[in-house]
This record gives sequence, structure tokens and C-alpha cells, in this order.
Amino acid sequence: MQPWQYREGMLCCEAVPLATIAQEVGTPCYVYSLTAMRDQYRLLENSLQDVPHLICFALKACANLAILKIFIREGSGVDIVSGGELYRALAAGADPQKIVYAGVGKSEEEIAYALKSNILMFNVESPQELSLINRVAATLGVQARVALRINPEVDPKTHPYIATGLKQSKFGISLAEARELVRVGRGLSHIELAGVHCHIGSQITKLAPFVEAADKVAQFVRELQQAGIGIRYVNLGGGVGIAYNEESPPTLSEYAEAIRPIVTPLGCTLIVELGRSLVGNGGALITRVLYTKKTPVKNFLVVDAGMNDLIRPSLYRAYHAILPVDEAHQKEEPVVVDVVGPVCETGDFLAQDRPLPLLEPGELLAVMSAGAYGFCMASNYNARPRPPEVLVQGDRYWVIRERETYADLVRGETIPPCLQGG
Ligand code: LLP
Repeated sequence: MQPWQYREGMLCCEAVPLATIAQEVGTPCYVYSLTAMRDQYRLLENSLQDVPHLICFALKACANLAILKIFIREGSGVDIVSGGELYRALAAGADPQKIVYAGVGKSEEEIAYALKSNILMFNVESPQELSLINRVAATLGVQARVALRINPEVDPKTHPYIATGLKQSKFGISLAEARELVRVGRGLSHIELAGVHCHIGSQITKLAPFVEAADKVAQFVRELQQAGIGIRYVNLGGGVGIAYNEESPPTLSEYAEAIRPIVTPLGCTLIVELGRSLVGNGGALITRVLYTKKTPVKNFLVVDAGMNDLIRPSLYRAYHAILPVDEAHQKEEPVVVDVVGPVCETGDFLAQDRPLPLLEPGELLAVMSAGAYGFCMASNYNARPRPPEVLVQGDRYWVIRERETYADLVRGETIPPCLQGG
């Protein structure tokens, strides 16, 4: 399904004109297509049908409760990286037995919360973490299921900030150390070694790095099986890329085809933790032009969304396609512009040197492919309330998160007595 289409001259999400949503909820705002996200999930689910598997949606990509619920209702589990994400997953009604918990810095409190919630397993990233999990589990009188997150040292050929399986990265454990940790883990009374995990990075647009990493994981699993260690889960993480511009990433069925033959002979349950590929192209950020501004060397479109709303262009120089909501502009001769926000930083841009029609103040733009790592990375920088999120299905839509108010901006702050009065 193509959720973003011009209908009668106006860009729509499914059957709802984006201008209608902008009118009703204001701009900037995030808009998501329920059908697009669910279709992606179903494509993956169908492609994995003949291998025992569990899809754990990587909540960090788009954490709204309503979005989580789309996947949970399809049978999805959740991949989490913090106590806050566990709270969100449970609040959306996730089955704790389908929750996997990764991250290099799990605190004692977070580990206890996850154990009390009886999650499926921890993806362990260091020897110290393993012994802490054992200690907390002993205190609580429970067994902790763990997978070792191995670092397969595979170059995912993506932006360096989102490559996680390189030798120099902070994530995972080298194969040599993992072998040692298996030995240690077997001696820990409250640890059950249930799986092997890896995640090599994000926005990966080729299959080869996934295959290389899966081969290394499979080899390690076989080694453990031969040593009589019953590994039940093989977790290959997430990372499948999406088309932001002219990339042609594998489809989720091509991804499934590539890893299935590697995992099937192991007799384990396959876990995948996809985020971006499930939600990325199902979302857009709608923004309004505030001013057009010409300097001696540049044309600027100053819009009402900034780097605090969508940080990906500023942080990774990421490309997001930008479409005028009114199709009539598509026929005009484009002008090269920088699309910039109101934030007081030169790095506050949504696009640089981009050919776009010359729009007038008041007109709407859609920043595409903003469903993943969009709202969830938004901040209040410059005391800007975070934008609302809207979910569309067919010709209906719902605000699934309200725009923050100025009062929200100061919630929890207090002026101490020594500063009061006067
Ligand atoms: N599993 C683990 C352990 C992860 O760290 C991640 C993402 C995923 C799964 C999901 O990866 P995905 O399928 O979404 O690629 N903020 C960056 C992306 C950071 C990804 C962090 N980890 C961006 O905007 O591109």
C-alpha cells in the first residue's frame, strides 16, 4: 500500500488530506499511517512463517502507545533498552514474555524492574552486567534468562553513529570473551543462558552484512550446542534500512529469505528486532512555511518545524524527502533552497540545497519518512513544546499524542525558597 498520495491535488495520508489534519491540530505535527505500518509487519510475519520466530518491534523507533498497540495486536513482542521503554511496552499491553531487553548500561533498578515484570530475556552486553543480573535475580529469588550479545565485527556500511557491530563500538561482547562468559554464566545460579544476540547497526541497505553477521552467530550457536549448551533463541537484532531518497534496501521478505536458511538448521526460535523498516515510511512530519528569506547566497524556507522536532538531518545529515502538500506546486520550476527551522542553531535544517518549488508563507510541506526516530528523538530545546502525533486509518484520524503546552515545559520545576520573594 502506498499511504502517501496526491488525491484531487492534495497530499493525503491514506484517504485523509494532510491539510485537513494541519487545519485541525496545527503544525508542526507528526502523521502516521496505521495501514502502512501494519502492512510492513504482516509482510515480515508472512515471510517468516515457516521458521519458529518472534518479531520484537524496536520501540525506540516510534514509542507512542497507539503505535505499539498496532504491533502488539498483530502478536508482536517488543525490544526495549530502558526501564522507561519497559514501562511503555507494558502500558501498551505487551506480553512480558515477548519482551527482550538490550543496552550497555542497564541499571540495577532497571534490571530489578525487568525481572519483576518477568520479561523473556536480557541481551547481556558485558561480564559485569551478567554478574549484576545474577545478583539481582538471586535477591528476587528468580531465574534470569539471558542472551549474550556478541559483536560479530561486521561493517554494516551505514552512518558511523548508527554502526554498532564494529570492533571499536561499545556494544556487545567479542566472540573470544563470549566463550569465556558462557563458562562463567554456567556457574551462576540464577542465570539461564537461553540465546545469542547480535545487532550490527541501523539503516543497512544491503543484505550481505546481515548474512555475514548471521553466519557468525550461527557458527557460535553450533559451537555452544556441540558443547551441550541448549541455546533456544537466536536474535539477529534489527537494522533493515528504508528508502529515504534513492536507496534500494531489501524488502522485509528479501531480508527474511536471506536469514531463514542460516537460522533454520539451528532448531532455535529466531528473534528479530526491527524498528525503522516497520514504521519509517509510515510517518511524515507536516510543517508550515513561516517565511521565505533570500540572502545574497541562499534561498531559505523558514518553516515551523525545527531540529528539536526532527533531529535526523542535523545529527546525521540524513536526507528526508520534502513534498509540497499542494500538488499544483509540483509543476513549477524548482528553486534550490535550504529548509530551516526556528531554532537558534545554524545546524537547524531539515534540508540543504534542495530543489523545491518556491512556496509562500502559510503553505504546507510534508517531511517524508519521519515515522522512525522522528518524534521519539524530539526535544524541548529552545522551550519548544513537542508536536502532536496523529494516526490515520482510511478516512479517519485520531490525535494519539497531544501537542505539549507551555505548562508542560515547566512541569516538575521548582524555585527553591532561597530564590523566592523579592
Ligand atoms: N535492536 C537494537 C539492539 C538496537 O540498538 C536497534 C537500534 C534496533 C534493534 C532497531 O534498529 P532498526 O531496525 O530501527 O534499524 N536514531 C538513529 C537510529 C538508531 C538506532 C539505534 N538502535 C537514526 O535516526 O537513524
